[in-house]
Amino acid sequence: MRILGIETSCDETSWCLVDIDNNRLDIIKSFSYTQTVHAEYGGIVPELSARQQLEALAGSVEEIRAYLPEADVIAVTEGPGLKGSLLVGAVFAGTLSSLSSIPCVPVDHVDAHLLSPMINSDLTFPFLSAVLSGGHSAICLVNNPKDITVLARTVDDAIGEAFDKCGALFGFNYPSGPKLAQVADSYSGELIKFPIAMPDSKNFSFSGFKTAVKRELEKNFPLNETVMAKLCASIQNGLIQNAIEKIRLVTHEFKEVPIGISGGVASNSLLRRVLPENFPDRKIYIPDRRFCVDNAEMIAFAAYQSLVHGVAEIRLPQIYSRWGRI
Ligand code: KG4
Ligand code: ZN
Repeated sequence: MRILGIETSCDETSWCLVDIDNNRLDIIKSFSYTQTVHAEYGGIVPELSARQQLEALAGSVEEIRAYLPEADVIAVTEGPGLKGSLLVGAVFAGTLSSLSSIPCVPVDHVDAHLLSPMINSDLTFPFLSAVLSGGHSAICLVNNPKDITVLARTVDDAIGEAFDKCGALFGFNYPSGPKLAQVADSYSGELIKFPIAMPDSKNFSFSGFKTAVKRELEKNFPLNETVMAKLCASIQNGLIQNAIEKIRLVTHEFKEVPIGISGGVASNSLLRRVLPENFPDRKIYIPDRRFCVDNAEMIAFAAYQSLVHGVAEIRLPQIYSRWGRI
């Protein structure tokens, strides 16, 4: 099945034409533009994001028009995300669908992350899926593309947000999470221990973690390069350990179910290395890095999965800002 995927929920404009058969995804064309304009504001400015989505998609119109006749389906993110940015993609996809009569399948962005460990893998339903992104952190039981139960969620920040906020304390430009990870990976040596929040709860929390980090930074001020690298590595380790402990609590209840990990933080090298070591008796599925951060391929894949299972909604997209499952 050939699917034109469109993703505009936040600061990434991404579209693709993919061929998917039996969960094997072949990329025919893939376009991705990451907005950099937000760096000077220290965080995403929704209106700027929407304007840039419009510019990037407008710049792609001719190319998309050329690929469109090859598509059997148009898949587009309808939420959650920034309303203005979503609207750009939704109107664009809806218009393409209406003019071409190619059916449109609206997709939930977080559900698409949760399903992404199936891309190019032998993972089958049911499975536990942890989405670790900048907007959401949750662990779910995925029975089919639309039958998804949230087992654990965050009570404050998402883990990617915690990476970004800790990175910002060092003055790294937005998005500061990957930069913090990069500095962390340059360090090898002793680490400072940061707390696991609510150790008896499956839910994530990062507010206490951030306070502990701030205190440690103040203690070490002014920072030289070595101390900064040590702090970054300790923060990265602490955040990843928090994720692992929450996954561990959930897996106790679901023996023998495989585990999928997704979202931007799933591209973190430390997490990718230590997860299999922590769960030697489980099959762990982590998508290729390109399918971890926001991408149109996972949107196309989620539409494919819902079509294959007969649960797809073929209609024009509506937009919503919040994930409906929590
Ligand atoms: O899934 P994603 O691209 O967008 C959302 O749906 O939120 O995730 C973005 C998040 C950001 O918070 C970013 O800091 C984090 O993923 N991230 C990382 C890494 N790469 C991206 N966090 C830790 N290590 C990385 N290598
Ligand atoms: Zn995302």
